[in-house]
Formats: sequence, structure tokens, C-alpha cells
Amino acid sequence: MMDHIVTSTSGSILVIRINRPEKKNALSLSMYTAMGDALERAEADPQVRAIVLTGSDGCFTSGNDIADFLQSNPTGGESPAIRFLDKLGAAGKPVIASVTGLAVGIGVTMLLHCDLVYAADTATFQLPFVNLGLVPEAASSMLLPRLMGHQRAAELVLLGERFDARTAKEFGLVNAVLPASELAGIVDQRAAALAAKPPLALRLTKALLKREPESIASRMAEEGKYFTRQLGSPEAREAMEAFIERRKPDFSRFA
Ligand code: COA
Repeated sequence: MMDHIVTSTSGSILVIRINRPEKKNALSLSMYTAMGDALERAEADPQVRAIVLTGSDGCFTSGNDIADFLQSNPTGGESPAIRFLDKLGAAGKPVIASVTGLAVGIGVTMLLHCDLVYAADTATFQLPFVNLGLVPEAASSMLLPRLMGHQRAAELVLLGERFDARTAKEFGLVNAVLPASELAGIVDQRAAALAAKPPLALRLTKALLKREPESIASRMAEEGKYFTRQLGSPEAREAMEAFIERRKPDFSRFA
């Protein structure tokens, strides 16, 4: 079971890989627990600066293990699935999803909580909640229409049909669609680029992007508070001195 979620660290990047190919990477309760634990460790570890969530064998995940659905409610209350989603949504560090193939159910809704999403051109997506007699989870009933508009979200969620990577890109669910053979390399590059940024500025900016809508005046005041604080920070000083000295900034000493 332990091998169903494989975590590895490459430099300052934590990779969480879903690895249960014999069941199309269906997520069991213990797999959610392992992913939640990995996110918790990443948050606490100052060495980790970016997180990559990916699948294996040309499959991202076929969603919740349907056998578990019959045993219990894996997405109810304090379940491991909810804990995982909470930790993903609250992650202070940037999370990149690398969608290697099939993404079904929570395999799609979890993408709404990631920061960057890259998909292989062979990837397919499906939100089959209604087909299974269920309703969407992970706040996707709010996040999908916000992202793509009501009619597009309704088409995906009410009909529950499979859609391709091109549609996912057109609807704003993914940043880019890449040839399957290039996906891992590009994701590594993007993760390394994020990991090299001034970490506090990155975390604060991500938190600002994820805040719930408010008045423009209140948002500007909030940004101003962080802007002033960052202006006096060592990492901003390093960025600006590097510009003046015509050298590459080095943020590796900051946490
Ligand atoms: N939960 C539990 N088992 C799953 C699963 C899931 N979500 N998805 C696939 N599996 C299992 C299959 O039962 C099968 O197991 P078996 O070999 O022991 O019979 C194995 O994984 C391979 O799946 P299979 O259906 O043969 O592969 P496929 O390529 O023909 O189809 C899917 C892949 C994902 C399209 C199809 O399996 C499917 O629709 N799965 C259900 C997806 C779903 O509804 N998820 C819940 C969302 S809320």
C-alpha cells in the first residue's frame, strides 16, 4: 500500500506521485492520508519550496475508489479525503499538477486547488458525479462556474461526459497542454523556477491570489500592508541589489 503514493524530493521540490496503476490510480482512504501527510510535511519543511502532484503510467487518477464509496462516505466530515483537500487548498507553497492522462472526479476537482496545471495532450477529464448519483465536491460547484462560467461548468458537471485536454485549456482548467513526452521536463522547469523565487514574497502573493473576493479598496489596503512589509525584507533587498549589481539574485538563504 505504501507504494501507492510515492514521495520524492529533488532539490527543493517535493513530488507526490499517485501510483496504483492496476486500479487506474483510484484513491483509497489510505492514499488520501498519505497525500495529506506529504502536504503537511512539505509545509513544515523549509527546504521544500514547490510541490508537484502527478500520476503514473499515463494516468493521473480515476478518482475516488468506488469500492470505498460503497463502504463509507470518503468525502464526509473529517475523512482523509477532506483532510487532503483542506491541506491542498491551504498549501502556502506553490503546487503544480502534472496531469499525465486520465483525470476523473476528484482527479479534476483537486486541480481547482492547485496553482499551475499542465496536461499531456493525451489527458482526458471527467466529472461523473451526477452519473453516479452524487454531487460535486471540493467546492467545485462554486469554483468551476467562477473559473469558466455557468454554461461551461453545467455542461461538464450535469452531463458528466469525458472532455479532452484542449477543452480543459479552453475552459481555463489547465495552463498548457504539452506533448506527453515533454510534460515531465516542462513541469520540472516550472517547479525549479518557482523554487528559485524569493519564498516569502511567493507565499504572500499566493495567499493574496487565493483570498475570497472583497472590495477593491479593501484588497488594495491588504496588498499595501504586505507590499510595505516586503519592501523592507531581506529578500527584496537581495532582488534589488542584484538588479543594480547586474547579477542573478540568490534567494537560497531565505526561508
Ligand atoms: N475505483 C475503484 N476501482 C477503479 C476505479 C475507481 N475509481 N477506476 C478504475 N478502477 C479499477 C477497475 O475496476 C479495474 O479493476 P479490475 O482490473 O480489478 O477489474 C481497473 O481499475 C482497471 O479499470 P478499467 O475500467 O478496466 O480500465 P479502463 O481503461 O477501461 O477505464 C476508467 C478506466 C477510469 C474510465 C473506468 O475504470 C472508470 O470509469 N472508472 C470509474 C471512475 C469514477 O467514476 N470515479 C469516481 C469519480 S467520483
